[in-house]
Amino acid sequence: MHSLLLHLEDVGVHFGALKAVDQVSFDLHEGERVAILGPNGAGKTTLFNAITGISPATKGSIKLGADIITKASPNRRAKLGIARTFQITNLFFGLTIEENLLLATRGLQMSKFSPWRSNQANADERDVIHSALTRCQLDNKRQTLVKDISYGEQRQLELAMSLTSSPKILLLDEPAAGLSPAERGNMAEIIRSLPSDLALILIEHDIELALGLVERVICMYQGSILVEGRPDEIRGNQQVQEIYLGKPRHVTSH
Ligand SMILES: Nc1ncnc2c1ncn2[C@@H]1O[C@H](COP(=O)(O)OP(=O)(O)O)[C@@H](O)[C@H]1O
Ligand SMILES: [Mg+2]
Repeated sequence: MHSLLLHLEDVGVHFGALKAVDQVSFDLHEGERVAILGPNGAGKTTLFNAITGISPATKGSIKLGADIITKASPNRRAKLGIARTFQITNLFFGLTIEENLLLATRGLQMSKFSPWRSNQANADERDVIHSALTRCQLDNKRQTLVKDISYGEQRQLELAMSLTSSPKILLLDEPAAGLSPAERGNMAEIIRSLPSDLALILIEHDIELALGLVERVICMYQGSILVEGRPDEIRGNQQVQEIYLGKPRHVTSH
């Protein structure tokens, strides 16, 4: 087994009386790929926010390697190797794909908008950008303005941008949402071919897509972990069938 990377113990994110995330414990090892499934409102995105620091845990603890990061700032967690996908709202539509990647590459150095820095990539930055472009199947469009690429390509760019910090853990919140079947296929292929030492946590509504990309599945329901298992165990699980796959009428989901 690879070494332990992320350890969540009894994590809760409570908003007043609402326990958006409650009593969540799990481990993630180096290079491990995990999917989080669950109906709308189950607490999946809030759990991501607790891990990245956007909405820190109000209970429990989160450890990354030897560091306790329960209350650390999002910036500190990013520096320690946790990345989430950029949102489309973070893209600069009037710039090229390559220029967006250069800004992302410099993001962690807090010099994003420095007028003193060259807008030409240096050799190291070029390597990082080239690798992200290739991985995300965007190398032939690197000079294209973001406003002129498809929605699917914009989502590929978000993923490429999150890779520029060379993270240890990547959190993907519904990376295939809103994509056409062909674009979903591309996205799945890109995710599958991410570096094998990069640990991945994937939230995805398309269950077949998710189960085909991970070795372990965590099912959340009403803020807590309902079941955890291998994809084949999850497929056959009665509770999961009822609550998620079967989508009974009393559970709102889409
Ligand atoms: N900042 C917040 N303040 C109050 N309630 C929130 C906040 N963020 C999320 N919630 C609530 O927490 C619950 C879980 O939401 P979310 O994590 O977005 O679910 P999911 O991603 O599984 O669809 C929902 O009831 C949602 O309304
Ligand atoms: Mg969500």
